[in-house]
Amino acid sequence: MQNNATEITQKGLAALNAANDQQTLEITKAQYLGKNGELNVLLKQLGSMSPEERKTVGAHINECKNQFQAAYNAKRAQLEEAKLQAQLDAEALDVTLPGRTQELGGLHPVTLTLQRVVELFHSMGFDVADGPEIEDDFHNFQALNIPQNHPARAMQDTFYVENGDVLRTHTSPIQIRYMLDKKEPPIRIIAPGRVYRVDSDATHSPMFHQCEGLWVEEGVTFADLKAIFTDFIRRFFERDDLQVRFRPSFFPFTEPSAEIDIMGENGKWLEVGGCGMVHPNVLKNVNINPEQYTGFAFGIGLDRFAMLRYNVNDLRLFFDNDLAFLKQFKA
Ligand code: DAH
Repeated sequence: MQNNATEITQKGLAALNAANDQQTLEITKAQYLGKNGELNVLLKQLGSMSPEERKTVGAHINECKNQFQAAYNAKRAQLEEAKLQAQLDAEALDVTLPGRTQELGGLHPVTLTLQRVVELFHSMGFDVADGPEIEDDFHNFQALNIPQNHPARAMQDTFYVENGDVLRTHTSPIQIRYMLDKKEPPIRIIAPGRVYRVDSDATHSPMFHQCEGLWVEEGVTFADLKAIFTDFIRRFFERDDLQVRFRPSFFPFTEPSAEIDIMGENGKWLEVGGCGMVHPNVLKNVNINPEQYTGFAFGIGLDRFAMLRYNVNDLRLFFDNDLAFLKQFKA
């Protein structure tokens, strides 16, 4: 009888082991531990035994039942665990995946810079003017006091189109167009836009952006130029103590002329634009009397301003269209 119990238990343990789903497991349990299960049937036979025998055999059968129960519990836990795991795998949710939102675009850093320049000059009473990117020789050069064969043309080697037309080399021709159009001072404008030169490296691109400034009125002096520009650039960089220097220079369309430098964070002067008093010949070319009116003009590089404002060290990044770069400026 004892061996019988052991044998049945072995069989039962093997059956538990083989049960690979909950249902089979429960059926197996019923087969052995159920009211009429094989191990309980053995217990019923104890009645026909001597008290001595009953005691030992009974104890053994109970041991077998406990063993079976323990194996059943373990197997059940194992199946439940496997089931849970399978469920988790099936419903796996990767919370690190980005959401499916509609991505909004952003403005280009040079556009953001331009907006800021326009806003600041607007607050000082300047209008915004514009002009064509394909210019003729008269507006791009001659009217700006740069006659044919003038050496200053070499500094602005450009792309020639047809009939001597060029991709404008600077925004200065917009001065000419505006003054010819407006006819009478006061004239107070800025003129931003794309300009072109045969130039390409980390700090020069064949296409770049400038912004021109022009104020023509009776009594305008170099002191006004210095005051207006210094105020603008300090507000642009949000530094009231920014050092600004006007360094004597030459431009055919201004007299006197100066380069504008600001003090960089490394303690070095950094050129940010050119300026000067509008040359009398330029005023004559647009039919404004230089005896009555004076004016100042300046030109700044917007890309350079964007590089300084956003700490970008390679101009080409602005034109590579690399989203990883551009996204950083999304307002
Ligand atoms: N047009 C000049 C350039 O592209 C920049 C400049 C200098 C513009 C002096 C001005 C000025 O209006 O007054 O190099």
